[in-house]
Amino acid sequence: MAVVAQLSPSSYTETTRLSSSQLSLSSTHLSSLRRRAFRPIIGPRNPTISCSVNQVQAPVAVEQDDPKSKTNDCYGVFCLTYDLKAEEETKSWKKMVNIAVSGAAGMIANHLLFKLAAGEVLGPDQPIALKLLGSERSLQALEGVAMELEDSLFPLLREVKIGINPYELFEDAEWALLIGAKPRGPGMERAGLLDINGQIFAEQGKALNAVASRNVKVIVVGNPCNTNALICLKNAPSIPAKNFHALTRLDENRAKCQLALKAGVFYDKVSNMTIWGNHSTTQVPDFLNARINGLPVKEIIKDHKWLEEGFTETIQKRGGLLIKKWGRSSAASTAVSIVDAMKSLVTPTPEGDWFSSGVYTNGNPYGIAEDIVFSMPCRSKGDGDYELVKDVIFDDYLRKRIAKTEQELLAEKKCVAHLTGEGIAFCDLPEDTMLPGEM
Ligand code: LMR
Repeated sequence: MAVVAQLSPSSYTETTRLSSSQLSLSSTHLSSLRRRAFRPIIGPRNPTISCSVNQVQAPVAVEQDDPKSKTNDCYGVFCLTYDLKAEEETKSWKKMVNIAVSGAAGMIANHLLFKLAAGEVLGPDQPIALKLLGSERSLQALEGVAMELEDSLFPLLREVKIGINPYELFEDAEWALLIGAKPRGPGMERAGLLDINGQIFAEQGKALNAVASRNVKVIVVGNPCNTNALICLKNAPSIPAKNFHALTRLDENRAKCQLALKAGVFYDKVSNMTIWGNHSTTQVPDFLNARINGLPVKEIIKDHKWLEEGFTETIQKRGGLLIKKWGRSSAASTAVSIVDAMKSLVTPTPEGDWFSSGVYTNGNPYGIAEDIVFSMPCRSKGDGDYELVKDVIFDDYLRKRIAKTEQELLAEKKCVAHLTGEGIAFCDLPEDTMLPGEM
């Protein structure tokens, strides 16, 4: 029997119906249903769509052409009831996970969403709901994304919502993948970029604080991602600061690839790869602690000048070179690295290895300044949490490089003091502060 019949809300009329999020999995979500069940929403775009599993409540349609009116809506086929039976859920499906994605109409998201929906990230028994946040300008494109998700018939994708209001889209989010950010425009100072994107992340932090799961894991991708993550966490005081990440996994992957190339091995032989610091041209790919076939990199690659100069600069500027070739920022490899970053948090880290993530520095064992978001080596038990790795070594070269990227992040932090609740911003950035994509 369709769940709608069990709820029989008195406010249910011909023109008001419940979204799939309100109906699906009702056997285990009655409390959250009660909170949301009676909010009127708009019917599906195409009343003739009737594609779902099991029995489906016949959709009651309201034709609606104004895209803005869809901001609080489930999308198309995802408005239909997925009548998952309680015993089916306990036998073979896990509880649905809400994943919010900002910048959802962009290129990175376009690669990422289909991986998420296919179960590549959270597994083949994990149903998901995608909450896609765009801007007013991108709302049409967002509909295009949702249409492609519909047409892909992913069994694990139980719900899609599109919209422009983070307070709606982040509701009960267990993951927030914050990709959307403005690129630097012509003549814009870096301070201007920090401010304009910082405002977006301050707002999104507030929205997460208000409506997301208290256990939400936030991965900030939009640049400058470290400082954006700091702004976001400062605006979300009810969510543990530890839950916020700035994506440096792409840099880690790039570093592994270049070391493998130089050593003439396949990249799965490279482990213990740390990226220290900022996702910028001051980042430090750590060849001192990295290993190839379990041995220190310096024992395998004897060309130490290449490690210090060629290798380091290649990783720092890889994003920029890619933009030159492609004419746009990396998208597919960024999406893959978001997948890797998520998997690293939900899978136990292999014994002796670690991964890099930009995380909050309070309590770090390396002597790095507190209260910034800095990429460091992490390990996870696979429970979504992580701990910092203690057994890493430093030499003068590494310390000096780490100090430089640390200074840069401290300067960025001063630039956004007005967005983190720390007073008046004062922006005096080192001259070479750049994103990897800026040459
Ligand atoms: C990358 O590393 O490829 C991007 O962050 C580059 C950029 O600046 O957008």
